[in-house]
This record gives sequence, C-alpha cells and structure tokens, in this order.
Amino acid sequence: MTVCSMASDSALPADYHPPRLKLAQLPTPLQFLPRLSEKLGGPRIWVKRDDLTGSVLSGNKLRKLEFTLAQAQQEGCDTVITCGGLQSNHCRATALLCAQLGLTCHLLLRGDPTGEADGNYLLDKLAGATINTYVAKDYQGAISDLLRQWQQHYQDLGRKAFIIPTGASDGIGVWGYFEACRELQQDFAAANITPQHIICATGSGGTQAGLTAGAQAFNLNAQVWGVNVCDDAAWFMNKVQADLQDWQQRYQLQFDVANQSINVIDGYVGPGYALATAEIYQCIAELASQEGIVLDPVYTGKAFYAMLQEHQQGRFGSDGDIVFVHTGGVFGLFPQRQHFAFLDN
Ligand SMILES: Cc1ncc(COP(=O)(O)O)c(C=O)c1O
Repeated sequence: MTVCSMASDSALPADYHPPRLKLAQLPTPLQFLPRLSEKLGGPRIWVKRDDLTGSVLSGNKLRKLEFTLAQAQQEGCDTVITCGGLQSNHCRATALLCAQLGLTCHLLLRGDPTGEADGNYLLDKLAGATINTYVAKDYQGAISDLLRQWQQHYQDLGRKAFIIPTGASDGIGVWGYFEACRELQQDFAAANITPQHIICATGSGGTQAGLTAGAQAFNLNAQVWGVNVCDDAAWFMNKVQADLQDWQQRYQLQFDVANQSINVIDGYVGPGYALATAEIYQCIAELASQEGIVLDPVYTGKAFYAMLQEHQQGRFGSDGDIVFVHTGGVFGLFPQRQHFAFLDN
C-alpha cells in the first residue's frame, strides 16, 4: 500500500472547508426499521435516508455534487460534462442541478436509447441536458478521450467546461460522504446508538471512500462496508484507495490513506451491472410493503439484499445496530418494471 507524504502545514480533514454549495436538504432522517429488525431477531436495522437529499430524489450524488459543482463554479466554468450509463443516477442528478444553477450540462451516456425515454434518461431530457449516446464498445476505454474532446469543443467556442468523472468519485467527491459522517455522528448521538456497521452500495467508489475516511475522522467506531454492484472486491479496494489518495493530496490533508481498512462485500453482482436476480426484486417488494422504503434494482436493492444474506451468515453478529445508507436510485426501478410482474399474481 502507498504511504502518503503529509505537508507540515496540512490540515485535519474535519477542519478543512473546501468550496461547497448548499444544494441538499440536510440532515436526512435516520429511520429505524422496527418490523424488519424484529423479523431478523438480531441487530437493529436503521436506514440513513439519503434517498431524500432533495433535487428530485437525487440520492448520494447530491452530497458529492455540492463540492464538485462548487469547484466548477470556482474555476469559472459555464458548462459541465459528465458520463455514465443510460440510466445513470449521477448524470440525472448533475443535469438537474446544472439546470438549477444555470450551467450547461452535457452528458455522454453508454447505451442504446431505442424505445421511449424512461427513468433517468427521461429526466435528463427534461432537464435540458445535451446528450450523446455511445454503444458500449465505443464508450469503454474511450470515455476519457471523449470527455477531453468535448471539453476542447467548448474551449474552441470560447466556453469553459468542467469534467466530472463517473459518479463524481474522485478527491473532490470524497467530501460528500466525509461530511455525511459529521451528520451521522449527530444522528447516532440523538438516537443514542453506536452502530458497529455502516453499509452502502458501491459503484464508482466515492461514497464508500468518503464514509471510510469520515467514520475514522468522526470517531464513529463503525466498520464501513461497500457492496459492489459491478467489478470485484480488488477493483474497489484500489478505487477507494485512489480516491482517498487524490483527496489527501489535492487538499494536503493530515490523513493516513495507507492505514484505512477498506471493506468490500463481494458476491452480489449477480448477472452483471444493472442486472438483478428474482431474489433482489422480491427483496425490494418486501421492504417496500414492510417498511415503506423503496430500493432500486441496480444499487440499493443489491446492497440491502447482501446485508440480509450476510447477516444470516453471521458477518455482523447477533446484536447491536447496523446502518444502511440508502443512496437513492428510485428512477432505475421504472425501466425494469417487467420484473415486478409477480406482484400481479
Ligand atoms: C443509487 C446509487 N447508489 C449507490 C451508488 C454508488 O455510489 P458510488 O458511485 O459513490 O460508489 C450510485 C452510483 O454509482 C447510485 O446511483
């Protein structure tokens, strides 16, 4: 593992104040799940309702984009370019926030938009984003070049475009969930709990990176677990570490990246990214009817299902409190409506 050098005038992350816009509705609720907890008969389950951060249910992305878009504005950019899958929650959140801030938004989306616009893609269009779509083979491996080519295009027009990487997961985006831990510290004190485990879906690593650093900085004494929804544990260990490294170096923070324990729960990707099994759809339906919380099949449904399975296998012990971070994504449900046909029976 890499050891970071720390400048002598470096700041503690909790005392550092990067540029930030106030866009999210914070604090989000920390909700106890009484029926599920009773059914499990073990640890008490809580959900941090970050599906309710605001800006059209923008989920975890809103926390990161408060910092990313502040940086774009500080650099004098009038345009934001970002990328993701056709149903990317991150791209939809960015498009809506750009509309709110009067910035031009340009999305490079992976996928084939045949048929009616649905879910996040429909919202991207409503938000007035400029959209280019690329089939997977033209996107994979080429996306960094495509982003730079479009940035150059705007420069040629006398404009200034800011590139946000996939999921806003980089050293800037880490602040989102680092600061969320400041909020969790207060949530836990108010609820009088000391959870041993905090669990989230991990897709581009930034949420997990922020939670990992924040849990340590704010003494949450909890293990942070990311459930990967694509790739594998090794990929996410590297990615989370790279985001933390970028964060530490960019802001010259007193933070020891090498000593972070990065925990990934692998084995729940199923057939692939955005593809779920019948158990996941069933889990989504059960939680909605049992507790009134709606998960999505791409991220939170897989992560929540993984949490339940791992609990059964004893990973989290038989007592205490577990916090699941609900990172949003509800619009990803609708393009997959056919998988809920079992509810009609
Ligand atoms: C709803 C939802 N949950 C979780 C994640 C994963 O967050 P991250 O990209 O920070 O790993 C994403 C995005 O990738 C998301 O859209």
